[in-house]
Amino acid sequence: MTKLIVDGKEIDVPAEFTLLQACEAAGAEIPRFCYHERLSIAGNCRMCLVEVKGGPKPVASCAWGVRDCRPGPKGEPPEISTRSPMVKKAREGVMEFLLINHPLDCPICDQGGECDLQDQAMGYGVDTSRFAENKRAVEDKYLGALVKTSMNRCIQCTRCVRFSAEVCGAPEMGATGRGEDMEITTYLESALTSELQGNLVDICPVGALTSKPYAFAARPWELGKTQSVDVMDGVGSAIRVDTRGREVMRILPRVNEAVNEEWISDKTRHIVDGLRAQRLDRPYIRENGQLRAVSWQQAFAAIAARISRTDGKRIGAIAGDLAAVEEMFALKELLAKFGSVNLAVQGSDAFDPNAGRASYIFNPTIAGIDQADALLIVGSNPRKEAAVLNARIRKRWRTGQLKVGVIGARADLVYAHDYIGAGTESLGDLAAGKHSFAEVLKNAEKPIVLVGADAFTRHDGAAVLALAAKLALDVGAVKD
Ligand code: SF4
Ligand code: FES
Repeated sequence: MTKLIVDGKEIDVPAEFTLLQACEAAGAEIPRFCYHERLSIAGNCRMCLVEVKGGPKPVASCAWGVRDCRPGPKGEPPEISTRSPMVKKAREGVMEFLLINHPLDCPICDQGGECDLQDQAMGYGVDTSRFAENKRAVEDKYLGALVKTSMNRCIQCTRCVRFSAEVCGAPEMGATGRGEDMEITTYLESALTSELQGNLVDICPVGALTSKPYAFAARPWELGKTQSVDVMDGVGSAIRVDTRGREVMRILPRVNEAVNEEWISDKTRHIVDGLRAQRLDRPYIRENGQLRAVSWQQAFAAIAARISRTDGKRIGAIAGDLAAVEEMFALKELLAKFGSVNLAVQGSDAFDPNAGRASYIFNPTIAGIDQADALLIVGSNPRKEAAVLNARIRKRWRTGQLKVGVIGARADLVYAHDYIGAGTESLGDLAAGKHSFAEVLKNAEKPIVLVGADAFTRHDGAAVLALAAKLALDVGAVKD
């Protein structure tokens, strides 16, 4: 721990903290644009300037380490000021500088009301500008169906570039040109391919990247905000559902370190379109090959008429993954009335009720991936099935301490992995120690075996699950 004096208050912080973190620990508020807790440090916006006593000029606190601060001549702890006249002047200067080319079109900008630039200009800026020259104009870029651009507003903080490269593992964004000619782009104006691209809208501190489907739909202060949990994948990300009246307008992530940190997948974020656009919200009856809109009474009368003419044994029902137990029970009762027992439930045949929850929950926990040193993925493409979980695996892999092995279909998982093979033989070979990854699993202190739906929805799913469970026990993946 290192002693620091921030705005006259003495604190102890770990030496590896940045000055920005140290100031926050002391309760000071530091404005920032380019700095983001979960991305590498760029230090290019200069909004986070603070004064270090004895220093000739303000320093960028996000890029200055606590261990780089020198003690005073008599060994006093380094003194930091976040409210001195020097800091105030520096912030005003940076703000004026950032706004030289910003279009100031807040009334027609989708970010209005939730824009870091707007808020910080109010908090730390001045109400005049010394620049009367024309603003630069930047052509908007095409980034696909989800992210809308208005590149005149970009302040080149490069958060989007770092997010794409570091979190998504899809380095599709970058900057071309220098100085006034610098532009953020996908180079060839191609659509983004990442399954986490919706998060770009959240991390862009200005209105340069906004949500295309949500464009001009609502203002933040019109929305009711309800905390919820996502059901679009098995991760259960923490979300906030924004509504206006009875209409769901958008879905945003909430911070939950144990699950989704602060990201959500595009499936989670944009599923809201399914509630609003092209939704099957009224029944139709097909007559002479043509669909005709009818009332619910007419629809149920048609179903009852058809069922009364059908042998019960020829009636079946399929219950999806999202159906509640009560609904499935009611459906089962209904089928029993028709004399049918044909109720099919998606997947899950492989689970033995005697094994209980232990056979299907993710025992090591999602946050546990941050400590894992070996991961075996069986029959799953986490990038498609649970993009946020995949981002967590990538985060750990980037530290160089996680080795990943895959059994199942080949896929681009955005991290290097050892492809072991497909099918039960590969799993059998690995369990018998015939593949080099078996050694990695054995030597690992905290190995994880992750089994996906592909593995157990097969006819021999129970056997695959049993084999995977045995392997997990053998390599010590099952612990307290
Ligand atoms: S588009 Fe947004 S996130 Fe990307 S560099 Fe510009 S201001 Fe930053
Ligand atoms: S937040 Fe420190 S330089 Fe941008």
